[in-house]
Amino acid sequence: MTISRQDVLDWIKNVAGVLAENKDYLTQLDSAIGDADHGANMTRGFQAVLTKLPAVSDKDIGTIFKTVGMTLVSTVGGASGPLYGTFFMQAGAVSAGKQDLSAADWGAALEAAVNGVVMRGRAVLGDKTMVDALTPALEAFKDAVVQNATIGLALTRSVQAAEEGMKATIPLVARKGRASYLGERSAGHQDPGATSTFLILKCAAETWANS
Ligand SMILES: Nc1ncnc2c1ncn2[C@@H]1O[C@H](COP(=O)(O)OP(=O)(O)OP(=O)(O)O)[C@@H](O)[C@H]1O
Ligand SMILES: [Mg+2]
Repeated sequence: MTISRQDVLDWIKNVAGVLAENKDYLTQLDSAIGDADHGANMTRGFQAVLTKLPAVSDKDIGTIFKTVGMTLVSTVGGASGPLYGTFFMQAGAVSAGKQDLSAADWGAALEAAVNGVVMRGRAVLGDKTMVDALTPALEAFKDAVVQNATIGLALTRSVQAAEEGMKATIPLVARKGRASYLGERSAGHQDPGATSTFLILKCAAETWANS
């Protein structure tokens, strides 16, 4: 089974909806340890993406992902714009020319995407960032693929790992981004970026459940 171009387009559209639905939740999380703009940033970025999708809806998956990434970079700003922009641009570079993705293809795209975020933001596991959700999600997906799991099962395991990583940010003291200015006071709050990462990956698992 594979993830088709249409599946990819459906995921991106669904992400725009999920982030809009969770705008206040993400804002609330960012108001505790940041500047209360994460919900607005992500919603604005993906609403802009929605306006760009029709122009690339007949293009390959690489072009679709690159367009998403470039749109996020140009419309989101702050910390999360360049980071999520890099995520999608790197996924796009690895998916260039592809009309569908196998489990291994999505694993490779996710790996390039996560590596791109780590290179750009220089955060490591435990710094209380989106990396705390992304890295476990990537590892769980790769492990499932090695065990010959279906894409659907591999995605489910990947999302479970992202959720655990997201929840594990609660007690952490932030070492990157705006939340790090709070020092010890950042502990006791869930990281907004790890939360948006979980929502985005959960949306992929739900959209691609039958792949
Ligand atoms: N260096 C980094 N590496 C990875 N993720 C990061 C890094 N810095 C911040 N983040 C993530 O970005 C999230 C905050 O995103 P947000 O959209 O609120 O941008 P911001 O920090 O408010 O940007 P700015 O401070 O420039 O306005 C954090 O919750 C964290 O997950
Ligand atoms: Mg913020």
